[in-house]
Amino acid sequence: MNLGIAGRKAIVCASSRGLGKACAKALAQAGCEVVINGRDARQLQATAEEISGQTGARVIPVVADVATAEGQKALLSACPAPDILVNNNAGPPMRDFRALTRAQMIDGVIANMIAAIELIQQVIDPMVARRFGRIVNITSGSVKMPLAGLDLSSGARAGLTAFLAGVARSVAAANVTINNILPGAFDTDRLRGVLRRTAEQKGVSVEEAAKARIATIPAGRFGQPDEFGAACAFLCSAQAGYITGQNLLIDGGVFNGAF
Ligand SMILES: NC(=O)c1ccc[n+]([C@@H]2O[C@H](COP(=O)([O-])OP(=O)(O)OC[C@H]3O[C@@H](n4cnc5c(N)ncnc54)[C@H](OP(=O)(O)O)[C@@H]3O)[C@@H](O)[C@H]2O)c1
Repeated sequence: MNLGIAGRKAIVCASSRGLGKACAKALAQAGCEVVINGRDARQLQATAEEISGQTGARVIPVVADVATAEGQKALLSACPAPDILVNNNAGPPMRDFRALTRAQMIDGVIANMIAAIELIQQVIDPMVARRFGRIVNITSGSVKMPLAGLDLSSGARAGLTAFLAGVARSVAAANVTINNILPGAFDTDRLRGVLRRTAEQKGVSVEEAAKARIATIPAGRFGQPDEFGAACAFLCSAQAGYITGQNLLIDGGVFNGAF
């Protein structure tokens, strides 16, 4: 399927590894010029070379912390007028909500809510003026199915979702869309870290921890990042202009509800 976005410019935040990388790769495959981002310069450079080698696309690496004003400035200097923005960042670590300090809560809200809104503030009016814009936020299945210990992550991401629900409607007539993708369990470094910690806590092997987690997923497996990237690229496609303000849960059937 031709997604109709060849030549479009995209910024994909937090994309040197994992789901962000998969989104960047899928957009590069669709012919976009892609700014990718991470804090580890060596990893980011390797990913830029990998994606450009696989797709032939122009891939611009920007080493930056997306949660900071300087980081956002660096991203927008590399791509001042993006047609596509994919918001992503690491999530706060698992922690009992009683143990969270005020500073940690504020940092979590900045990382998983405010940073995305700040970037959107900076790119949306030019998108409206050009009559094309696609914004996708990587949130989490925990927005629909909160998990004790990930309360800050669930809360900040739910805040982002609600905040943008009105914004999405306000720009829809200009062919600018804002959607969220909610990952379930995808096979990334982050998931492998979670499985390692679960294995330690339960005194089992990582393979056993993975098997137990997979047993809770109707699809019987973890999601592959490329499957996530393909969904993101579709939401960024020319054809997806009528899809806005939506939450696409990709979790192999874990959320047990008809709607
Ligand atoms: N994978 C899952 O199963 C799953 C499930 C639910 C929700 N999620 C959420 O989806 C998002 C992506 O997860 P993932 O599994 O792809 O994670 P991952 O494999 O750990 O990759 C995270 C990426 O983000 C970059 N990054 C982290 N902090 C950054 C910052 N402050 N500024 C710029 N780049 C940053 C990392 O590079 P550097 O470390 O070099 O900066 C890396 O490229 C996270 O918010 C996660 O909580 C994932």
